[in-house]
Amino acid sequence: MQASTINIENIRRDFPILQRKVHNNKPLVYFDNAATTQKPIQVIDSIHNYYLNYNSNIHRAVHQLAEEATAAYELTRDKVAKFINVNREELIFVRGTTEAINLIAYSWGRQNVQKGDIVVTTEYEHHSNIVPWQLLTKEKEAKLEYIGVDDNGELILDQLDDYLNTGRVKLVTVSHMSNVLGTITNAEEIIRRCHKKGVKVLVDAAQSVPHIKVDVQKLDCDFFAFSAHKMLGPTGVGVLWARKEILENMQPFNAGGDMIREVHKYNTTWNDLPYKFEAGTPNIADVIGFSAALDYLENIGMDKVREHEIELTKYALEKMSVIKGIKLYGTPDMNKRGGVISFNLGDIHPHDLATIIDEDGVAIRSGHHCAQVLMERLDVSATSRASFYIYNTKEEVDVFIRSLNRARELFRI
Ligand code: ALA
Repeated sequence: MQASTINIENIRRDFPILQRKVHNNKPLVYFDNAATTQKPIQVIDSIHNYYLNYNSNIHRAVHQLAEEATAAYELTRDKVAKFINVNREELIFVRGTTEAINLIAYSWGRQNVQKGDIVVTTEYEHHSNIVPWQLLTKEKEAKLEYIGVDDNGELILDQLDDYLNTGRVKLVTVSHMSNVLGTITNAEEIIRRCHKKGVKVLVDAAQSVPHIKVDVQKLDCDFFAFSAHKMLGPTGVGVLWARKEILENMQPFNAGGDMIREVHKYNTTWNDLPYKFEAGTPNIADVIGFSAALDYLENIGMDKVREHEIELTKYALEKMSVIKGIKLYGTPDMNKRGGVISFNLGDIHPHDLATIIDEDGVAIRSGHHCAQVLMERLDVSATSRASFYIYNTKEEVDVFIRSLNRARELFRI
């Protein structure tokens, strides 16, 4: 059954892993896409082809292999720039969203946040958008404050105004889509309010860029980060974008080869952007593989990706909501949420539930999802989470629902 206007059968043929059987020959139902997505054969082939045919370091030698590798690596930068609508010189390849946020906290944060200043984050952040700011604010004797989450799973923006009115806020850093609740943040509004007060905004787009069309220039934030592996690309590649004037004024994060212009015994000048922030040999093969992932998503079209996920999530929410004893988290309004469903079933521990449905071939995540501040807010220690992507089908949702009902019966709920 086709859930939307995209051709899922054709898409599924591109993902060899989806043919896998698990636990006594059960077809794999992969619903852990918010953790990492599967990779199409085009991405796997492109990495294979690099190692097989033109493996070389980049930006250094003049031989043919080096030129081919450099061109392929830099082509990915062009594609990312087009994908999110920014200038290529403002795009830095890092290991992932976590490294991007740490880079900003370390380089920009240490230069710009002083004693008594405030960094504002939210209660639905991933640990990677909390812990770097705890380290920074503790070191600087600054304060870390939180925008709360309401019972619908949305941010309470009035609280942002209270912080902004103190005149001490240096940075507001928010997830563009919650990895637990699926809530899509009203980032435009947050950025508008912050910029009115001259406050910079970082958008953690790890969960949004893979699923919705994002135009960074339109969004008008100051820092933006996401990871390739959550959007069909390889692990170990992330993207940090920041405004040119900010990057120019920032100290480098890592120092070493390629990020320099001239090194003398006692001082060094920096390379141009973006290379100033790309010290050492980067993850060449996987950056090249990311290019194929971007092509894949462009071919489908991000509007279609979103449309498919809305249809699937709506379908799953409808079926889940009638399961006896289930508690669903997040807003039912599909305009405000992505394809992530966190839930609890009776008093079954999420790890037990995930283990039971795994026996039926269904892979979900259970636990705190690296969002313990949110777990405290929801007053739970853990949830189960199903998250969808372009290759998932309504039939797979049916398998998942049957499996949840089997668990419910086992536990006599
Ligand atoms: N951040 C990833 C998740 O939410 C790993 O599962």
